[in-house]
Amino acid sequence: MARHFLRDDDLTPAEQREVLEMALAMRHDRFSHRPFAGPQSVAVIFDKHSTRTRVSFSAGISELGGFPLVIDSASSQMGRGESVADTARVLERMVSAVVWRTFGQDRLEEMAANCGVPVVNALTDSFHPCQILADLAAVADERGGVSALAGLDFAYVGDGANNMAQSYLLGCATAGMHVRIGTPEGYLPGADVVARAEEIAQTTGGSVTVTHDVSTAVQGADVVATDAWVSMGDEGEAEARERAFIDFQVNDAALELAAPGAQVLHCLPAYRGKEITADVIDGDQSIVWLEAEYRLHAQKALLTWLVEQA
Ligand code: CP
Ligand code: NVA
Repeated sequence: MARHFLRDDDLTPAEQREVLEMALAMRHDRFSHRPFAGPQSVAVIFDKHSTRTRVSFSAGISELGGFPLVIDSASSQMGRGESVADTARVLERMVSAVVWRTFGQDRLEEMAANCGVPVVNALTDSFHPCQILADLAAVADERGGVSALAGLDFAYVGDGANNMAQSYLLGCATAGMHVRIGTPEGYLPGADVVARAEEIAQTTGGSVTVTHDVSTAVQGADVVATDAWVSMGDEGEAEARERAFIDFQVNDAALELAAPGAQVLHCLPAYRGKEITADVIDGDQSIVWLEAEYRLHAQKALLTWLVEQA
């Protein structure tokens, strides 16, 4: 049975640590692992736009000795309605892993259920777990290693119902962090995700807080993260969202409340003047470019780890 990575809690705390350690090591030794030497192919499929995910998986799979087969689903038979299950049955005979950015989590689950090679979530409406691995790796690298993560206070301010918020809940709880989500009414993460994060936190020494008060979220935080107010697929609600999130901006005042030297994360793309000010994202405390670079190292580590489990 192939191991898949569909959501953050598909890795146990020990497994997440292993992948993060490998990501930090791979930053300094980029060509140390060649699991796809051959080259074997990895399908990287996009139902939504992407810059970082497309480039980091493409470059990363090449660096692992493989061939990145990048597919825009609209131009494939998937775009004409071929089923996910039939697509999976064909792909597993030709490629060594499948990486997919899509809409519903159920579509990714269906791919994994019908695919004998690892399936990796490259973002769904519900989760963005590869991004969280990169974020944790970047924070760890800046703080001297993966063991520095447990016990950190992690604040996310913005859309609490989106993929980033839900993945931070699971991924940061897995890392033993105290994760706090500050979000307006009407934008709460799924109750099932919060409950799962609480369950994980009980085993890792972390904790979970969801609040409608930005200062409660950010006060004393070691890491402050945000994300676009309008995610892919939410464009029709743009005006209502900008009104709802107006007080949930990561700006100097919010950062003042955080711990001195708190690190600022944003998965990008960013909208300066909306969810984050230019001063903050372009300021000294921002590690967003290292965070983006870690998409490469973290996904290479994840793919290497997943194929080693087979
Ligand atoms: N952060 C992220 O996933 O970026 P892209 O949408 O550009 O892939
Ligand atoms: N929440 C954003 C993340 C983009 C990388 C979206 O889904 O559009």
